[in-house]
Amino acid sequence: MIETTGSTCPLDHYLAMPDTSLDERLAAAKGELGRRAVVLGHHYQRDEVVKFADYRGDSLKLSQLAASREGAEFIVFCGVHFMAESADILRRDGQRVILPDLSAGCSMADMADIGQVEDCWEALEGLGLADGLIPVTYMNSAAAIKAFCGQHGGTVCTSSNAGAAFRWALERGQRILFLPDQHLGRNTGYAVGIPLADMPVWDPFAPMGGNAADRYSTARVILWKGHCSVHMRFLPEHVDRARELYPGVRVIVHPECRWEVVQKADAVGSTEGIIREVVGASAGTAWAVGTEIHLVNRLAREHPDRFITSLDSSGCLCTTMYRISPQHLLWTLENLLEGRAVNVIRVDDQVRDWARVALDRMLSIQ
Ligand code: 13P
Ligand code: SF4
Repeated sequence: MIETTGSTCPLDHYLAMPDTSLDERLAAAKGELGRRAVVLGHHYQRDEVVKFADYRGDSLKLSQLAASREGAEFIVFCGVHFMAESADILRRDGQRVILPDLSAGCSMADMADIGQVEDCWEALEGLGLADGLIPVTYMNSAAAIKAFCGQHGGTVCTSSNAGAAFRWALERGQRILFLPDQHLGRNTGYAVGIPLADMPVWDPFAPMGGNAADRYSTARVILWKGHCSVHMRFLPEHVDRARELYPGVRVIVHPECRWEVVQKADAVGSTEGIIREVVGASAGTAWAVGTEIHLVNRLAREHPDRFITSLDSSGCLCTTMYRISPQHLLWTLENLLEGRAVNVIRVDDQVRDWARVALDRMLSIQ
Protein backbone atom coordinates (compact mmCIF):
# COMPACT_ATOMS: atom_id res chain seq x y z
CA MET A 1 0.00 0.00 0.00
CA ILE A 2 1.22 3.52 -0.76
CA GLU A 3 1.57 5.86 2.21
CA THR A 4 1.37 9.58 1.63
CA THR A 5 3.17 10.83 4.72
CA GLY A 6 6.84 11.31 5.76
CA SER A 7 9.77 9.95 3.81
CA THR A 8 12.65 7.77 4.90
CA CYS A 9 14.49 8.89 1.74
CA PRO A 10 15.50 12.35 3.07
CA LEU A 11 15.37 15.09 0.47
CA ASP A 12 18.58 16.70 1.82
CA HIS A 13 20.48 13.60 0.92
CA TYR A 14 19.27 13.89 -2.69
CA LEU A 15 19.92 17.62 -2.92
CA ALA A 16 23.62 17.01 -2.19
CA MET A 17 23.98 14.74 -5.24
CA PRO A 18 25.62 16.23 -8.36
CA ASP A 19 23.37 16.40 -11.46
CA THR A 20 25.73 14.16 -13.42
CA SER A 21 25.26 11.23 -11.03
CA LEU A 22 21.49 11.04 -11.41
CA ASP A 23 20.69 9.95 -14.96
CA GLU A 24 21.17 6.24 -14.41
CA ARG A 25 19.13 6.21 -11.20
CA LEU A 26 16.37 8.28 -12.80
CA ALA A 27 16.19 5.93 -15.77
CA ALA A 28 16.18 2.89 -13.48
CA ALA A 29 13.45 4.31 -11.22
CA LYS A 30 11.30 5.20 -14.21
CA GLY A 31 11.86 1.77 -15.73
CA GLU A 32 10.89 0.03 -12.50
CA LEU A 33 7.74 2.12 -12.03
CA GLY A 34 6.77 1.46 -15.65
CA ARG A 35 3.17 2.37 -16.48
CA ARG A 36 2.32 3.05 -12.83
CA ALA A 37 3.73 6.57 -13.16
CA VAL A 38 3.52 9.06 -16.02
CA VAL A 39 5.93 12.01 -15.97
CA LEU A 40 4.65 15.22 -17.59
CA GLY A 41 7.10 18.04 -18.38
CA HIS A 42 6.28 21.64 -19.25
CA HIS A 43 8.38 23.21 -22.02
CA TYR A 44 10.05 25.58 -19.52
CA GLN A 45 11.59 22.74 -17.53
CA ARG A 46 15.31 22.27 -17.67
CA ASP A 47 16.79 19.60 -19.93
CA GLU A 48 18.02 17.42 -17.05
CA VAL A 49 14.37 17.04 -16.01
CA VAL A 50 12.49 17.18 -19.30
CA LYS A 51 14.49 14.34 -20.80
CA PHE A 52 12.75 12.03 -18.33
CA ALA A 53 9.27 13.28 -19.22
CA ASP A 54 6.99 10.80 -21.00
CA TYR A 55 5.23 13.82 -22.51
CA ARG A 56 6.23 17.44 -22.99
CA GLY A 57 3.73 20.17 -23.66
CA ASP A 58 2.12 23.52 -22.92
CA SER A 59 -0.46 23.85 -20.17
CA LEU A 60 -3.36 22.91 -22.46
CA LYS A 61 -1.70 19.79 -23.84
CA LEU A 62 -0.55 18.68 -20.39
CA SER A 63 -4.01 19.16 -18.89
CA GLN A 64 -5.55 17.12 -21.74
CA LEU A 65 -2.94 14.43 -21.14
CA ALA A 66 -3.64 14.42 -17.40
CA ALA A 67 -7.34 13.95 -18.19
CA SER A 68 -6.65 11.04 -20.54
CA ARG A 69 -4.01 8.96 -18.69
CA GLU A 70 -6.20 6.16 -17.48
CA GLY A 71 -3.49 3.64 -16.74
CA ALA A 72 -1.16 5.63 -14.52
CA GLU A 73 -1.56 5.49 -10.76
CA PHE A 74 0.70 8.55 -10.38
CA ILE A 75 0.95 11.69 -12.47
CA VAL A 76 4.33 13.26 -11.69
CA PHE A 77 3.99 16.85 -12.83
CA CYS A 78 7.22 18.66 -13.70
CA GLY A 79 5.74 22.13 -13.93
CA VAL A 80 4.33 24.60 -11.42
CA HIS A 81 1.71 24.36 -8.69
CA PHE A 82 -1.36 25.53 -10.67
CA MET A 83 -0.62 22.95 -13.37
CA ALA A 84 -0.45 20.12 -10.83
CA GLU A 85 -3.68 21.37 -9.23
CA SER A 86 -5.38 21.33 -12.63
CA ALA A 87 -4.13 17.79 -13.22
CA ASP A 88 -5.58 16.79 -9.83
CA ILE A 89 -8.93 18.30 -10.81
CA LEU A 90 -8.97 16.39 -14.11
CA ARG A 91 -7.49 13.09 -12.92
CA ARG A 92 -9.39 9.78 -12.71
CA ASP A 93 -10.48 8.26 -9.39
CA GLY A 94 -7.60 6.56 -7.65
CA GLN A 95 -4.89 8.57 -9.42
CA ARG A 96 -2.57 10.86 -7.52
CA VAL A 97 -0.73 13.94 -8.74
CA ILE A 98 2.77 14.70 -7.47
CA LEU A 99 4.66 17.99 -7.73
CA PRO A 100 8.36 17.18 -7.15
CA ASP A 101 9.01 20.51 -5.36
CA LEU A 102 6.10 22.14 -3.54
CA SER A 103 7.76 25.55 -3.75
CA ALA A 104 7.42 25.56 -7.57
CA GLY A 105 4.66 28.19 -7.76
CA CYS A 106 3.81 30.93 -10.26
CA SER A 107 4.11 34.57 -9.21
CA MET A 108 1.38 35.56 -11.67
CA ALA A 109 -1.09 33.03 -10.23
CA ASP A 110 -0.34 34.48 -6.77
CA MET A 111 -1.47 37.94 -7.95
CA ALA A 112 -5.15 36.97 -7.71
CA ASP A 113 -6.41 35.83 -4.37
CA ILE A 114 -9.93 34.39 -4.10
CA GLY A 115 -10.92 36.93 -1.40
CA GLN A 116 -9.90 39.79 -3.70
CA VAL A 117 -11.79 38.27 -6.63
CA GLU A 118 -14.95 37.91 -4.51
CA ASP A 119 -14.61 41.57 -3.41
CA CYS A 120 -14.24 42.66 -7.03
CA TRP A 121 -17.31 40.65 -8.07
CA GLU A 122 -19.34 42.14 -5.23
CA ALA A 123 -18.30 45.65 -6.20
CA LEU A 124 -19.30 45.04 -9.83
CA GLU A 125 -22.55 43.50 -8.61
CA GLY A 126 -23.12 46.71 -6.64
CA LEU A 127 -22.83 48.62 -9.92
CA GLY A 128 -25.50 46.39 -11.41
CA LEU A 129 -22.98 44.70 -13.73
CA ALA A 130 -22.94 41.10 -12.50
CA ASP A 131 -25.68 39.99 -14.92
CA GLY A 132 -23.94 39.46 -18.22
CA LEU A 133 -20.47 39.40 -16.62
CA ILE A 134 -18.61 36.19 -17.49
CA PRO A 135 -15.50 35.36 -15.45
CA VAL A 136 -12.70 33.76 -17.44
CA THR A 137 -9.50 32.76 -15.72
CA TYR A 138 -6.17 31.89 -17.24
CA MET A 139 -4.97 28.41 -16.35
CA ASN A 140 -2.26 30.21 -14.32
CA SER A 141 -4.51 30.70 -11.30
CA ALA A 142 -5.38 28.92 -8.06
CA ALA A 143 -8.01 26.15 -8.07
CA ALA A 144 -10.32 28.35 -5.94
CA ILE A 145 -10.42 30.93 -8.74
CA LYS A 146 -11.17 28.28 -11.35
CA ALA A 147 -13.99 27.11 -9.05
CA PHE A 148 -15.29 30.69 -8.81
CA CYS A 149 -15.44 30.82 -12.61
CA GLY A 150 -17.20 27.44 -12.76
CA GLN A 151 -19.78 28.57 -10.22
CA HIS A 152 -20.45 31.90 -11.99
CA GLY A 153 -21.00 30.55 -15.50
CA GLY A 154 -17.43 31.13 -16.65
CA THR A 155 -14.50 29.11 -17.86
CA VAL A 156 -10.73 28.64 -17.87
CA CYS A 157 -8.42 29.23 -20.80
CA THR A 158 -4.78 28.71 -21.65
CA SER A 159 -2.67 30.81 -23.94
CA SER A 160 -3.49 28.49 -26.82
CA ASN A 161 -7.30 28.67 -26.58
CA ALA A 162 -7.86 32.14 -25.09
CA GLY A 163 -9.38 33.54 -28.32
CA ALA A 164 -11.97 30.76 -28.44
CA ALA A 165 -12.74 31.24 -24.74
CA PHE A 166 -13.30 34.99 -25.27
CA ARG A 167 -15.66 34.36 -28.20
CA TRP A 168 -17.51 31.73 -26.12
CA ALA A 169 -17.90 34.16 -23.21
CA LEU A 170 -18.99 37.11 -25.35
CA GLU A 171 -21.71 34.96 -26.95
CA ARG A 172 -23.09 34.41 -23.45
CA GLY A 173 -22.66 37.78 -21.80
CA GLN A 174 -21.92 41.43 -22.33
CA ARG A 175 -18.49 41.53 -20.75
CA ILE A 176 -15.66 39.40 -19.41
CA LEU A 177 -13.81 39.64 -16.10
CA PHE A 178 -10.40 38.24 -17.06
CA LEU A 179 -8.06 36.89 -14.37
CA PRO A 180 -5.19 37.20 -13.54
CA ASP A 181 -2.97 38.22 -16.51
CA GLN A 182 -3.81 41.65 -17.87
CA HIS A 183 -1.44 41.11 -20.82
CA LEU A 184 -2.92 37.84 -22.09
CA GLY A 185 -6.37 39.40 -21.56
CA ARG A 186 -5.52 42.60 -23.45
CA ASN A 187 -3.76 40.77 -26.30
CA THR A 188 -6.64 38.33 -26.68
CA GLY A 189 -9.36 40.97 -26.39
CA TYR A 190 -7.62 43.10 -29.02
CA ALA A 191 -7.18 40.09 -31.32
CA VAL A 192 -10.94 39.40 -31.19
CA GLY A 193 -11.68 43.03 -32.09
CA ILE A 194 -12.13 44.84 -28.77
CA PRO A 195 -10.57 48.34 -28.65
CA LEU A 196 -8.04 49.00 -25.85
CA ALA A 197 -10.29 51.73 -24.45
CA ASP A 198 -12.94 49.09 -23.69
CA MET A 199 -10.60 47.06 -21.49
CA PRO A 200 -10.02 48.85 -18.16
CA VAL A 201 -7.71 47.30 -15.56
CA TRP A 202 -9.03 46.32 -12.12
CA ASP A 203 -6.39 46.94 -9.45
CA PRO A 204 -7.29 44.78 -6.42
CA PHE A 205 -5.38 47.15 -4.12
CA ALA A 206 -7.20 50.35 -5.17
CA PRO A 207 -10.70 51.44 -4.11
CA MET A 208 -13.17 50.36 -6.82
CA GLY A 209 -10.27 48.81 -8.70
CA GLY A 210 -8.81 52.25 -9.42
CA ASN A 211 -11.41 53.46 -11.96
CA ALA A 212 -14.62 55.48 -12.04
CA ALA A 213 -17.75 53.31 -12.19
CA ASP A 214 -18.59 54.28 -15.79
CA ARG A 215 -15.29 52.73 -17.02
CA TYR A 216 -16.72 49.34 -16.05
CA SER A 217 -20.23 49.86 -17.37
CA THR A 218 -18.88 50.58 -20.86
CA ALA A 219 -16.19 47.86 -20.72
CA ARG A 220 -16.17 44.68 -22.81
CA VAL A 221 -13.30 43.13 -20.84
CA ILE A 222 -12.27 44.00 -17.28
CA LEU A 223 -8.61 43.01 -16.89
CA TRP A 224 -7.22 41.92 -13.54
CA LYS A 225 -3.96 43.69 -12.67
CA GLY A 226 -1.62 40.70 -12.81
CA HIS A 227 1.40 39.94 -14.95
CA CYS A 228 4.21 37.48 -15.57
CA SER A 229 7.51 38.95 -14.43
CA VAL A 230 9.41 36.75 -16.91
CA HIS A 231 7.48 37.93 -20.00
CA MET A 232 7.26 41.56 -18.80
CA ARG A 233 10.99 41.82 -19.37
CA PHE A 234 10.60 41.75 -23.15
CA LEU A 235 10.33 45.32 -24.45
CA PRO A 236 9.43 46.87 -27.83
CA GLU A 237 13.05 48.06 -28.20
CA HIS A 238 14.18 44.41 -28.04
CA VAL A 239 12.14 43.79 -31.20
CA ASP A 240 13.79 46.78 -32.95
CA ARG A 241 17.23 45.64 -31.84
CA ALA A 242 16.71 42.05 -33.01
CA ARG A 243 15.68 43.35 -36.45
CA GLU A 244 18.76 45.59 -36.62
CA LEU A 245 21.12 42.83 -35.55
CA TYR A 246 19.65 40.02 -37.63
CA PRO A 247 18.09 41.30 -40.87
CA GLY A 248 15.25 39.03 -41.98
CA VAL A 249 14.69 37.67 -38.45
CA ARG A 250 11.15 36.70 -37.49
CA VAL A 251 10.06 37.70 -34.01
CA ILE A 252 7.70 35.36 -32.19
CA VAL A 253 6.47 35.99 -28.64
CA HIS A 254 4.25 34.50 -25.96
CA PRO A 255 0.93 36.34 -25.38
CA GLU A 256 1.94 37.06 -21.76
CA CYS A 257 4.22 39.75 -23.25
CA ARG A 258 3.11 43.40 -23.24
CA TRP A 259 0.67 44.49 -25.94
CA GLU A 260 3.31 46.82 -27.48
CA VAL A 261 5.69 43.86 -27.90
CA VAL A 262 3.00 41.59 -29.35
CA GLN A 263 1.99 44.33 -31.83
CA LYS A 264 5.57 44.66 -33.08
CA ALA A 265 6.17 40.90 -33.31
CA ASP A 266 5.61 38.85 -36.47
CA ALA A 267 3.80 36.10 -34.60
CA VAL A 268 2.39 35.24 -31.19
CA GLY A 269 1.79 31.82 -29.66
CA SER A 270 1.64 29.61 -26.60
CA THR A 271 4.76 27.61 -25.82
CA GLU A 272 3.45 24.78 -28.02
CA GLY A 273 2.46 27.28 -30.73
CA ILE A 274 5.93 28.86 -30.75
CA ILE A 275 7.55 25.45 -31.14
CA ARG A 276 5.15 24.45 -33.91
CA GLU A 277 5.85 27.65 -35.87
CA VAL A 278 9.64 27.55 -35.57
CA VAL A 279 9.92 23.80 -36.22
CA GLY A 280 7.54 24.10 -39.18
CA ALA A 281 9.62 26.86 -40.80
CA SER A 282 12.31 26.06 -43.36
CA ALA A 283 15.97 25.54 -42.61
CA GLY A 284 17.99 28.75 -42.74
CA THR A 285 15.27 30.92 -41.18
CA ALA A 286 16.15 33.19 -38.25
CA TRP A 287 14.03 33.58 -35.11
CA ALA A 288 14.08 35.87 -32.07
CA VAL A 289 11.84 34.26 -29.46
CA GLY A 290 10.16 36.10 -26.58
CA THR A 291 9.61 33.45 -23.96
CA GLU A 292 11.37 31.51 -21.19
CA ILE A 293 15.01 30.76 -21.87
CA HIS A 294 14.96 26.97 -21.43
CA LEU A 295 12.46 26.61 -24.27
CA VAL A 296 14.47 28.95 -26.50
CA ASN A 297 17.81 27.22 -25.82
CA ARG A 298 16.30 23.77 -26.38
CA LEU A 299 14.75 24.84 -29.70
CA ALA A 300 18.12 26.25 -30.80
CA ARG A 301 19.97 23.07 -29.83
CA GLU A 302 17.45 20.73 -31.46
CA HIS A 303 17.31 22.75 -34.70
CA PRO A 304 20.87 23.82 -35.53
CA ASP A 305 19.87 24.42 -39.17
CA ARG A 306 17.94 27.55 -38.05
CA PHE A 307 19.19 30.60 -36.20
CA ILE A 308 17.20 30.80 -32.93
CA THR A 309 17.93 33.33 -30.20
CA SER A 310 16.20 34.93 -27.21
CA LEU A 311 14.51 38.26 -27.92
CA ASP A 312 16.26 39.63 -24.81
CA SER A 313 19.97 38.86 -24.86
CA SER A 314 20.06 38.61 -21.06
CA GLY A 315 17.65 35.61 -21.28
CA CYS A 316 14.49 35.33 -19.19
CA LEU A 317 14.35 32.53 -16.66
CA CYS A 318 11.27 31.31 -14.78
CA THR A 319 12.87 30.72 -11.39
CA THR A 320 9.91 28.78 -10.02
CA MET A 321 9.84 26.31 -12.93
CA TYR A 322 13.57 25.92 -12.30
CA ARG A 323 12.89 24.67 -8.79
CA ILE A 324 11.96 21.26 -10.16
CA SER A 325 15.42 19.68 -10.19
CA PRO A 326 16.51 16.19 -11.24
CA GLN A 327 17.23 15.63 -7.53
CA HIS A 328 13.60 16.39 -6.61
CA LEU A 329 12.37 14.17 -9.43
CA LEU A 330 14.55 11.26 -8.33
CA TRP A 331 13.46 11.75 -4.71
CA THR A 332 9.78 11.49 -5.67
CA LEU A 333 10.28 8.47 -7.96
CA GLU A 334 12.42 6.51 -5.49
CA ASN A 335 9.92 7.24 -2.72
CA LEU A 336 7.17 5.79 -4.93
CA LEU A 337 9.29 2.68 -5.38
CA GLU A 338 9.53 2.39 -1.61
CA GLY A 339 5.75 2.68 -1.30
CA ARG A 340 5.42 6.37 -0.38
CA ALA A 341 3.79 9.12 -2.40
CA VAL A 342 5.43 12.41 -1.37
CA ASN A 343 4.30 15.93 -2.36
CA VAL A 344 0.81 14.83 -3.40
CA ILE A 345 -1.32 17.74 -4.63
CA ARG A 346 -4.88 17.42 -3.45
CA VAL A 347 -7.50 20.04 -4.21
CA ASP A 348 -10.34 20.33 -1.68
CA ASP A 349 -13.40 18.35 -2.91
CA GLN A 350 -15.84 21.26 -3.08
CA VAL A 351 -13.36 23.48 -4.90
CA ARG A 352 -12.52 20.56 -7.17
CA ASP A 353 -16.12 20.03 -8.30
CA TRP A 354 -16.66 23.62 -9.43
CA ALA A 355 -13.16 23.95 -10.86
CA ARG A 356 -13.85 20.79 -12.86
CA VAL A 357 -16.99 22.42 -14.29
CA ALA A 358 -14.85 25.35 -15.51
CA LEU A 359 -12.08 23.10 -16.87
CA ASP A 360 -14.57 20.80 -18.62
CA ARG A 361 -16.13 23.87 -20.25
CA MET A 362 -12.67 24.88 -21.43
CA LEU A 363 -11.96 21.42 -22.85
CA SER A 364 -15.27 21.49 -24.73
CA ILE A 365 -14.73 24.94 -26.30
CA GLN A 366 -13.32 24.61 -29.83
P1 13P B 1 1.69 27.83 -21.95
O1 13P B 1 0.24 27.64 -21.70
O2 13P B 1 1.98 28.51 -23.24
O3 13P B 1 2.42 26.54 -21.77
O4 13P B 1 2.24 28.86 -20.88
C1 13P B 1 2.27 28.59 -19.54
C2 13P B 1 3.05 29.59 -18.84
O5 13P B 1 3.12 29.61 -17.65
C3 13P B 1 3.71 30.62 -19.63
O6 13P B 1 4.36 31.49 -18.80
FE1 SF4 C 1 4.20 31.86 -14.03
FE2 SF4 C 1 5.53 33.49 -15.68
FE3 SF4 C 1 6.73 31.30 -14.75
FE4 SF4 C 1 4.75 31.10 -16.55
S1 SF4 C 1 6.78 32.04 -16.84
S2 SF4 C 1 4.99 29.86 -14.70
S3 SF4 C 1 3.43 32.79 -15.89
S4 SF4 C 1 6.02 33.08 -13.53
